[in-house]
Amino acid sequence: MSKKLILDFFKEHKLSYIIGIIFMFLSSLIQTFFPKVLGNTIDILRVDNFSTGAVMINILLLFLIAVGTFLSTYAWRNLVIGNGRKIENYIREKLFNHFQKLAPEFYAKRKTGDLIAYAINDISAVRMTFGPAAAMSINGLVVCIASIYSMSKAINWKLTLLTLLPIPVIMLIILRVGKVVQRKFKRVQESFASISDRVQENIYGIRVIKAYAQEDAEVRNFEKLNEQMMNSNLEMVKTSSILSPVIEFCFSISFVLNLIVGGKMVVDGSISLGDFIAFNTYLTLIMAPIISIGRVITIFQRGMASLKRLSEIFDTQVDIKDGQAMAEKAVEGEIEIKNLSFAYPETAEKVLENISLKISKGQTLGILGKTGSGKSTIANLLLKLYNVEDNKILIDGVDINDYSLETLRKGFGYVPQDNFLFSASIKDNIKFFKAVYSDEEVENAARVSCIYDSIADLTEGFDTILGERGVNLSGGQKQRVSIARAIIKNPAVLILDDSLSAVDTITQTKILKNFKNIRKNRTAIIISHRISAIEDADEIIVLDHGRICERGTHSRLLKRGGLYYDIYREQSEALQDT
Ligand SMILES: Nc1ncnc2c1ncn2[C@@H]1O[C@H](COP(=O)(O)OP(=O)(O)OP(=O)(O)O)[C@@H](O)[C@H]1O
Ligand SMILES: [Mg+2]
Repeated sequence: MSKKLILDFFKEHKLSYIIGIIFMFLSSLIQTFFPKVLGNTIDILRVDNFSTGAVMINILLLFLIAVGTFLSTYAWRNLVIGNGRKIENYIREKLFNHFQKLAPEFYAKRKTGDLIAYAINDISAVRMTFGPAAAMSINGLVVCIASIYSMSKAINWKLTLLTLLPIPVIMLIILRVGKVVQRKFKRVQESFASISDRVQENIYGIRVIKAYAQEDAEVRNFEKLNEQMMNSNLEMVKTSSILSPVIEFCFSISFVLNLIVGGKMVVDGSISLGDFIAFNTYLTLIMAPIISIGRVITIFQRGMASLKRLSEIFDTQVDIKDGQAMAEKAVEGEIEIKNLSFAYPETAEKVLENISLKISKGQTLGILGKTGSGKSTIANLLLKLYNVEDNKILIDGVDINDYSLETLRKGFGYVPQDNFLFSASIKDNIKFFKAVYSDEEVENAARVSCIYDSIADLTEGFDTILGERGVNLSGGQKQRVSIARAIIKNPAVLILDDSLSAVDTITQTKILKNFKNIRKNRTAIIISHRISAIEDADEIIVLDHGRICERGTHSRLLKRGGLYYDIYREQSEALQDT
């Protein structure tokens, strides 16, 4: 999947890659003319009455080589390295798109820190591979081949062979040490991951940590991790620092060999002084790419490892698919569940068993039940956050699997149990950044959910920024902002999943009354632990271990004297006690 992704990118940017590579070849070739021309110039200067014209031409040539190198290098760097940046942007966009489509299940199994690492570190490693590393290898290859060719062909092949003898040794060392460094680098990354997870959890959990006076213990824990990170880094540095002195030493041997053997050749006249100097310059030219071999290999290895990790993400199927049959028809609000049983993916235990119910358009269903009895699961399935068998849930008489996800979810206003607000203004939180809603609509939604006054009391009103960059609301206020977000959609079906739990009963009653007034003919599903939130519903179901154990209206359920009645008695007693 990600291989295809990258191939697609290459196809799209074929031209700029080809031109870039041509310029790269050019620049490498032009560079390798320099030593030769330099040598020629020196040979001309050595003759007693040299021709000034010839020297001038050579100097001009050297100048042109410099300009040519400059221009072609600038061109390929722009094209190839620029494409690296483009590929980074391209993959990140695809990844974010993919993230949006993946099921909640996917996120439940992964740490946020890891996912952030995918989006930042792994993609950046891929960029390094297809940008700088690819460029360095092509450039190095051309420079080395062209230089070695000029050295052996135009100067002396025996001298070339001799001076290049240490190079295989250098390569061997680079590869060997490189492997060890790679292994140690993995440990560095692991300690980095533990540190970032720790920091993240500490920031999220700071209230709990303070409440339990765990600050010192946390600091000590962190110190340990930090030390681990330093040690793994030091381990890596110990090995990697060997590399460059060893390489330089080997190259010095090359230069020394060249001085001894080449110097003798100059003396006995088998090569000219100019050739000798050109030879030395070639040697220097070769040095840079060979030294960077280790680095290039590391970048490639990291890039490939990252690509593999990204592939796993991209290969994770988006297993909740759009239905096609009802593409255009909007949800009206009749819901029927027929003998539905459900187990979460990869678990065997059924959390819903033989659920059957029908809500006509405009009716309100109340769902009551102990924690873990399956209430939120029903809401999840109605929104098709998980796959449902065919013909188990019908919306307006049509199988839920025939709706496109967009049409389906447009029909629902859902206030999840763990409501979430963005670090944005209250207004944007309510209208979900959509420009289609007017300020008036935002205010109305806030009035219905009884949060208007609290917002109006803030100095910045609806423009108050929430969360990390601004003020914090109380739990009940957050719930009501989330409710306003669902209300403003004016959906055919409103689902409140325990969304009034942090609101006092008087406000709760007010909100429910407001709903009744503005939501005539609209369906509602209210999930609650509190009987007072659902007692007016047209039908109430009581869930117990995934089964409907009682159903009916408030008064009928009370008469029945079962679980509902017990809960009712407990709650009214508790109320009287206060
Ligand atoms: N994503 C999931 N993967 C696997 N099991 C899950 C998942 N979500 C919930 N469950 C299990 O399904 C059962 C029903 O959970 P559900 O969230 O529907 O309960 P609930 O009635 O909403 O409880 P509460 O009142 O506490 O919100 C529980 O046993 C829970 O452990
Ligand atoms: Mg729940």
